[in-house]
Amino acid sequence: MIKFSQVLFLLNTVWTLTRGDAEIFCPLGQSCILPCRFQPGEDVVIHWIQQVEPTKKQVHSFYRSRDQLDQQDARFKHRTSLFQDQISRGNSSLRLTGVTFEDEGRYMCYSSILTGKMESFINLKVYAPVLDINIQHSGNEIICSSDGIYPEPELTWSPDQTDPNTSSTQTEQKLYNIRSAVASADSKDVSCTVSTPADSRRATLKSTVHENISGSEASISCSNLTAFTSYIWRFNHSEEVVRGKPEDFQPTEKWQQHIVESSSEKLTLKQLHPNLTGIYTCEIRGDRETFVKSLFLHITEDSNMNTIVIIVGVIVAVVLVAASVTAIIFWSKKKSKKNREKKDESTGENDRLNS
Ligand SMILES: *[C@@H]1O[C@H](CO)[C@@H](O)[C@H](O)[C@H]1NC(C)=O
Ligand SMILES: *[C@@H]1O[C@H](CO)[C@@H](O)[C@H](O)[C@H]1NC(C)=O
Ligand SMILES: *[C@@H]1O[C@H](CO)[C@@H](O)[C@H](O)[C@H]1NC(C)=O
Ligand SMILES: *[C@@H]1O[C@H](CO)[C@@H](O)[C@H](O)[C@H]1NC(C)=O
Ligand SMILES: *[C@@H]1O[C@H](CO)[C@@H](O)[C@H](O)[C@H]1NC(C)=O
Ligand SMILES: *[C@@H]1O[C@H](CO)[C@@H](O)[C@H](O)[C@H]1NC(C)=O
Repeated sequence: MIKFSQVLFLLNTVWTLTRGDAEIFCPLGQSCILPCRFQPGEDVVIHWIQQVEPTKKQVHSFYRSRDQLDQQDARFKHRTSLFQDQISRGNSSLRLTGVTFEDEGRYMCYSSILTGKMESFINLKVYAPVLDINIQHSGNEIICSSDGIYPEPELTWSPDQTDPNTSSTQTEQKLYNIRSAVASADSKDVSCTVSTPADSRRATLKSTVHENISGSEASISCSNLTAFTSYIWRFNHSEEVVRGKPEDFQPTEKWQQHIVESSSEKLTLKQLHPNLTGIYTCEIRGDRETFVKSLFLHITEDSNMNTIVIIVGVIVAVVLVAASVTAIIFWSKKKSKKNREKKDESTGENDRLNS
């Protein structure tokens, strides 16, 4: 049996290809593939070794046609695997699950066959993706923020802003929270991009639109962004109205009675009342982008509607009066006719009696 120490000795004597290390970013907490290839052949030996100076940790080994994990470092237990069916094709890539910050560093992939050997190096870097960006008006500022990012992100505004107040803080879990404020220019669209070398995401805040609504029904439009994963409509920034996905939507209890139709493109509301005047904001989220648009909806009592109601009321009243008058006339006519018939009958009887 080949001992790990013997392997290390062997490795030191191998002629090394001095290419620059390949760099690979692995998402924190998720799985990642460290790519490696070799010339296929017989008697395949594969060793993955993490080079944490001054020691080396065995990550995963394979020889005699199977995994050999006796010497595996405890940190990698149950977290590594090779693509067994691909080894004969020269694929010695390693799959690592549950990536942590301690996995960062330089890895050597050593592969040998009967007729030769090769080694390559990979520099593993961990990142925590920019999952979401929050962008909103706050007083006379626009604030853009994002949390839980690694490594330290950069935040840029578009169009370029003079004097953005940007700051980032690091949590105990090493993750960064970033926040930036700029003076609000209500009439312009602004975008804010948060990026790391591994990842980036953009959020766009459209200028606020004002709309006057007189009546009880209205359709307000958001965006025709086709590739999105979810959207939310909010009222006065904090109150949720409806939450949706491409295939369905879920209104909140309070707003259920007001929603006719909801999508990322538009929201159709009914039974509106002046007390629902306020800011309606839609936020659409795509894979790499967030889109936010606010509409100030001024709802007034519909004066035309009132006139219609009055006219309809008058017509109904007239019709009712006419109908009842007709009924009364008809009824009284019928009654007098009956009376006459009764009279006729009784006179007929009298005639008979008299004769
Ligand atoms: C090795 O095989 C896996 C699984 O099919 C694949 O995802 C990976 O890209 C392959 N790597 C190389 C370097 O060919
Ligand atoms: C920048 O923002 C921080 C809050 O995040 C605030 O305490 C600070 O006063 C601001 N600086 C300027 C120059 O506005
Ligand atoms: C809404 O109505 C107000 C007056 O009631 C008017 O000043 C304003 O221009 C109107 N806005 C729009 C977008 O029509
Ligand atoms: C979406 O709307 C914009 C203007 O608001 C228009 O330029 C664009 O063509 C529209 N895209 C689609 C797919 O309808
Ligand atoms: C708004 O007005 C309607 C109709 O008068 C009433 O039912 C509702 O409770 C009011 N809502 C608020 C938040 O005041
Ligand atoms: C919503 O916001 C508008 C404007 O700030 C305000 O006039 C209105 O009273 C608010 N409505 C509710 C129900 O809070």
